[in-house]
Amino acid sequence: MPTTTALSTDDQLGTRVHLLPQTSRLRALHTAMRDRTAGRDVFRHASESVFRMLIDTALDLLPHESHTVTTPVGATYDGLRPTPRLLGVSIVRAGESLEGPLRAACPDIRIGKILIQRDKQTKQPHLYRTWLPADIADNHVLLLEPMLATGGTALAALQLLIDQGVPEDNIIFINLTTVPEGISEVCRRYPKVHIVTSSIEQRLNEDAYMIPGMGDFGDRFFGTDAGAQ
Ligand code: URA
Repeated sequence: MPTTTALSTDDQLGTRVHLLPQTSRLRALHTAMRDRTAGRDVFRHASESVFRMLIDTALDLLPHESHTVTTPVGATYDGLRPTPRLLGVSIVRAGESLEGPLRAACPDIRIGKILIQRDKQTKQPHLYRTWLPADIADNHVLLLEPMLATGGTALAALQLLIDQGVPEDNIIFINLTTVPEGISEVCRRYPKVHIVTSSIEQRLNEDAYMIPGMGDFGDRFFGTDAGAQ
């Protein structure tokens, strides 16, 4: 019995959902992360390894143009380079975990931030503040958030980017794990947004944690879970 869904979302949701190939390497990294006994170093190492795969997949979705260079031996290489200007935007706090791997792939990238938290009483996402460049609308945006669960925060962040003038199809939403209901909600509201993920989990439990999942991502990554030292 697989522990995560093998569902190909293409039929259901179109070609905007990009699930990483479920290779042995990827599954071994997920196994390391999901183990409740994994220490912070193992958890961070495994998650950052998967983040690099997600970022490479996202970068590959950008439009490219021909670019020819001369090699050190005087030959020509007819290559490619990405055309658009690119920006990262992380959703504080868990999304900040993707900033290091994104900077490793694109050293000069600018990274904005959105601080949204769920109001404990209304259960609705509340926008506290943003740090976004003024020319955001002229960029393709990689939106960084490892967990796509109910989708409430994600939808608020996507709407904010669109209100800032970013065309929907210039947004690539990068998630480590997702659930079918979160994907459906994003695709229903924003059908042109790309989603890049490494896993589609079975479901959410009554506390809105993914099953089988990996617990609270931010706490485990940043070491703020109960008992962490
Ligand atoms: N956020 C998390 O950190 N984990 C989940 O399982 C769901 C949302």
